[in-house]
Amino acid sequence: MLQMTSCVLFRNGRIRRITSFMAISSKTKILGVGSYSPTRRLSNDELSKIVETSDDWISSRTGIRERRIASEAEATSDLSLIAAKRALEDAQISPEDIDLVLVATITPDMAFPSTACILQHKLGLRKVACFDLEAACSGFLYALDVADAMLSTGRYKNVLVVGAEKMSSIMDWEDRTTCVLFGDGAGAAVLSKEGTGSELLGFYCGADGATPSLLYQPAGGSARPASSETLETRQHYLKMNGREIFKSAVRVMESSCRHLLDKHNLKITQIDHVIPHQANMRIVESLSKRLEIPMDNFYCNLDRYGNTSAASIPLALDEAVKADKFKKGQLGLLVAFGAGLTWASSLIRF
Ligand code: ACO
Repeated sequence: MLQMTSCVLFRNGRIRRITSFMAISSKTKILGVGSYSPTRRLSNDELSKIVETSDDWISSRTGIRERRIASEAEATSDLSLIAAKRALEDAQISPEDIDLVLVATITPDMAFPSTACILQHKLGLRKVACFDLEAACSGFLYALDVADAMLSTGRYKNVLVVGAEKMSSIMDWEDRTTCVLFGDGAGAAVLSKEGTGSELLGFYCGADGATPSLLYQPAGGSARPASSETLETRQHYLKMNGREIFKSAVRVMESSCRHLLDKHNLKITQIDHVIPHQANMRIVESLSKRLEIPMDNFYCNLDRYGNTSAASIPLALDEAVKADKFKKGQLGLLVAFGAGLTWASSLIRF
């Protein structure tokens, strides 16, 4: 990290200001975390009254038992707001001290302005820089990587990172192959080079844009603007080739973890906890087998929330931290994959 230092010298009776840059190598810390889940629970049994499915099919194929659904009045920025307030409180940081806001989401309040700008106003922050980042379910880890890089420039001190989704707003409630999988929620973290907290040791983010239609929302963008035809053919909803995504997810999550560990000269046996993207319990179990990390070391809450996309990892992280699951000094691995396809992993020292 480069930090600017200035000093005033008196030489030959004249004042000179010397400005120099000092390298500071400190890890980015998570000063606080927070999350929010809407109060409305939608159980598998309730879903079986909407589409042809059953609790048995959903729980045996995915591990999901229920998910949270935001009210009509709640937009992604509202979910973000509560999660962010909780993270700020946990970090004991005043909103005044935040100087950058990143929101990872694929369900922004609207195409523009960014949900981060809307959140800035709702939180009453200063007129600081705000932007959204879209990497689907990998979004929160991408945002942590970007925040770490921004903090390392020395131009930002405290960054608010949010992963938030109102997935119910892009669900086709007539498509049983997708609507049973997703849920709404938000998670947030306050990051800084200063203060105390879990340390972010490293990141690995990647993407392969060759097959966007494996998981996408076909209409509503510039490629296929909204029209009566796109509405009639239900092209504004999430579409997914579940089987292909499943195969890619397992492969990509494993290689992403191995790549990151190799980069940091760490062995798999040194990892105490894994917080995976919460998409499907069978994906997590396959990852556990492939990495040879016991399931007991994985933190999962997808049975209660389903797949909340960019909110999934911060929701799980916050829940696990508040439940005292991690001991000081333990090593954690966060790993995600999502539409794009994107993937990301991060190492954390609790
Ligand atoms: N209820 C009952 N039956 C169903 C349902 C349902 N909800 N959904 C599908 N089926 C049926 C299918 O129609 C099919 O019937 P058929 O054999 O008569 O054609 C049968 O069940 C099997 O379907 P598959 O798709 O083969 O089921 P699979 O075991 O692969 O499970 C699932 C499907 C759960 C979607 C799985 O493929 C999966 O989890 N994939 C990964 C999805 C994922 O993680 N997506 C998130 C990516 S992250 C992001 O960026 C948002």
